[in-house]
Amino acid sequence: VSEFDLIIVGAGFYGATMAERAAAIGKRVLVLDRRPHIGGNAYSENEPETGIEVHRYGAHLFHTPNETIWNYLNRFTAFTNYRHRVYTSLKGQVYAMPINLGTICQFFRRQMTPDQARQLVAEQAAELAGRTPSNLEEKAISLIGRPLYEAFIRGYTAKQWQTDPRDLPEYIITRLPVRYNFDNRYFNDRFEGLPADGYTAIFKRMLSAPNISVALKTDFFEVRKRIPKSVPVVYTGPIDRFFDFAHGELGWRTIDFDTEVLSVGDFQGTAVMNYADENIPFTRILEFRHFNPERDYQTEKTVVVREYSRSATRLDEPYYPINTPSDKGKYMKYKEMAENEDNVFFGGRLGTYRYLDMHQAIGSALKSFESEIAPRLEAQHT
Ligand code: FDA
Repeated sequence: VSEFDLIIVGAGFYGATMAERAAAIGKRVLVLDRRPHIGGNAYSENEPETGIEVHRYGAHLFHTPNETIWNYLNRFTAFTNYRHRVYTSLKGQVYAMPINLGTICQFFRRQMTPDQARQLVAEQAAELAGRTPSNLEEKAISLIGRPLYEAFIRGYTAKQWQTDPRDLPEYIITRLPVRYNFDNRYFNDRFEGLPADGYTAIFKRMLSAPNISVALKTDFFEVRKRIPKSVPVVYTGPIDRFFDFAHGELGWRTIDFDTEVLSVGDFQGTAVMNYADENIPFTRILEFRHFNPERDYQTEKTVVVREYSRSATRLDEPYYPINTPSDKGKYMKYKEMAENEDNVFFGGRLGTYRYLDMHQAIGSALKSFESEIAPRLEAQHT
């Protein structure tokens, strides 16, 4: 390992961006990942029976307001013009999400103007009469009123957290988007699309420079002793694990995916159907063929994935930081320890205990490369 100028732990978007940037200035880079594939959580592969591209760690929709990040990623992939839309199933009826004027009119069974809908929701949200919300349920009611909360938020949230929303802290939600028009596009960002040749092709291209080596199925903690202290390390694994859980474990939620190939051409007519009813155990069903309507997939079969949410143990894939006040306190201690590491740089969603969208992981890697890593690499041989 001493022939490398930089070692990167994790071949997800954060690590791949760092590797690509360092290689572009002529540095020799080693990327380690303990998984058998590159791409981190954005990894996708074609399901063998149908050839349909499946995002193995949950649906990944690319979107960004940032032109620099969009242009950067466009060097490694073309994008389709996919526009994400989400629907929700509730008591045998289907509504468009996020809650918009169409959802409101359909739910209250009457046509309303934007102002009428706004007034109705405001009246219903006034139920707490100025009282400070003391749990998630009250907070949600203060934002959108009880009827919409009970229909679209309560069951879904209870399943996500496996906890009654009255027992969840109010700070979990700060806002619940309601649109007073019929726009049902899920994202508001200027740039959106899915990679024309799939996600994994992006990573192959980002890591294709001859001065980048990739070692898969390689756990950093098993090779750590062989890495000279003089070689900088970018670490995108879990920060608590790096410090042997010295301040305890950080809380995460995980998702169990139940994948099924069905002998129907089209199961649900859309990519993502949420299930708001509490008695249906999964939170949503993904049907992957709908992410790529431009592809010539066979029409006899389809791939669906049911998602079940629960809190993660150390053995599970960490997906969403829980971020209780106790987690926040622990993270601050780990962050302080990280700042005292001279030649290790922490980044990405696991390394900073933060939910990051893909564009944010890329943007934060580009920024940290410029401000911290490039200067360190340039100083190496002077
Ligand atoms: P990422 O987790 O991708 O990569 C870290 C890598 O480090 C992993 O491959 C891991 O194996 C490796 N690693 C960890 N410890 C190691 C060790 N000890 N040794 C070696 N390797 C180690 N974003 C978005 O923009 N649109 C979307 O629709 C979605 N959807 C979505 C759904 C779900 C369910 C989740 C959980 C997340 C999303 N995301 C998303 C977020 C997206 O997944 C996220 O932005 C990227 O994964 C962040 O990239 P990182 O490189 O930070 O982490």
